[in-house]
Amino acid sequence: MFKPDVYRQRRNRLVKNTGKGLVLLPGNEDASMNYRANTYHFRQDSTFLYFFGIDQQGLAGLIDLDENVHMLFGDDAGIDDIIWMGPRPSIRSLGEKAGTDKTMPYKELGKILKQAVDSKREVHYLPPYREERVLRLENWLGIHHSEVQQKASRALIKAVVSQRSVKSDEEIQQIEKAVDIACEMHTTAMKMAMPGVYEREIAGRVEGISLSHGNPVSFPVILSVQGQTLHNHYHGNVLKKGQIMVTDAGSETSMRYSSDITRSVPVGGKFLQHQKDVYEIVLAALQSSIDSIKPGAPYRDIHLRSAGIIARGLTDMGLMKGDPEEAVHQGAHALFFPHGLGHMLGLDAHDMEDLGEDNVGYDDEIKRSEQFGLAFLRLGRRLQKGFVLTSEPGIYFIPALIDKWRDEGKFKDFIDYGKVEPWKNFGGIRIEDDILVTADGCRVLGRPIPKTVAEIESTMQQPVSS
Ligand code: GLY
Ligand code: MN
Ligand code: MN
Repeated sequence: MFKPDVYRQRRNRLVKNTGKGLVLLPGNEDASMNYRANTYHFRQDSTFLYFFGIDQQGLAGLIDLDENVHMLFGDDAGIDDIIWMGPRPSIRSLGEKAGTDKTMPYKELGKILKQAVDSKREVHYLPPYREERVLRLENWLGIHHSEVQQKASRALIKAVVSQRSVKSDEEIQQIEKAVDIACEMHTTAMKMAMPGVYEREIAGRVEGISLSHGNPVSFPVILSVQGQTLHNHYHGNVLKKGQIMVTDAGSETSMRYSSDITRSVPVGGKFLQHQKDVYEIVLAALQSSIDSIKPGAPYRDIHLRSAGIIARGLTDMGLMKGDPEEAVHQGAHALFFPHGLGHMLGLDAHDMEDLGEDNVGYDDEIKRSEQFGLAFLRLGRRLQKGFVLTSEPGIYFIPALIDKWRDEGKFKDFIDYGKVEPWKNFGGIRIEDDILVTADGCRVLGRPIPKTVAEIESTMQQPVSS
């Protein structure tokens, strides 16, 4: 945990920005896999972590906005808990670590909330992403479960997003730590990407590296020679020469800050010329974003600039035709680049996505587009110093999408479907970095992870360390 004062100050700021009433910030509970006692790895709620820092089940935070009183609810471990799970710090000592004013048994929370509802005080809460939380909110606040989502507090969402979007120095250090673990995960994956190896052997090793640093991966490892499937979690293919392996993986730190990195490498260690051609376009699109990221720049425009580089590159290769700028304007490039350039990163890999993508990535000035491709951009608004985000351009050959658009005669003026046909077994290439917006530009976070063709080929010649 950070020092108690960090959490206190974060909550004080929240008190200033949220209005009147109470702010309810419950932590997460264990979630069962296949029977009650067999639980998934515990993951604390990120907003609870941000404001209270305690990575433990069975807790809830409550802030009285009118009195500026900060409360932590939870129960000390009983003897059964101690026998099965070991001793735990007392609630009182946890409250001290989080800089709260009061700690109380969990059952008191329901009573206090009932009193607040009865006396018509506003209870601000965030949109729940677990059904169990929906039921708790229904019980605590007397709101029918079908209305719990829509009654989440706009004021609280706004205040939390504004605070969590700008990372402090200690948060940036945490994210860099997570990127450094990802560096080890990715360089190991590169060295293992040899013909005859199963994806699962590499994926297991990649996840194991994260675990060996004491923490889980920040999202399920994406690793595949079928990289055209953007979030491919199937790891059963055996690697063959001539394929590209896409690895999209990151780690969490012990304080639950994330990294989210992608590298694409040629099986066997040497790019073929046509793979290199595509790779260099994606790398140029990434570099253009790094050159453009700075405070005040709308990320939507940076996305469009990268899309322009992709469209121009594919036009030079003969796969697209016509004016690349017009192709991007109309959305034709999205056949090959059907996702957004990036998203916020922090305590979540897709930071604060539970608070609503548009609340995090858009604002009154910049609204989400409805155009295929651009519509999937999670972050469009102007950047600010202290934002941490990903840039992750890619080029993919998705056979089903190519066939669909060709059969519909879509964008015939911009896409040479005849030339695209032989590329349908290419797979995909994505390259993703984690980037901090600085006062006058940006900084790619963490130790450099091999990224150019030469760096990747040289890394892939090295033996895998045991
Ligand atoms: N790892 C998922 C993403 O890059 O957004
Ligand atoms: Mn990723
Ligand atoms: Mn990402």
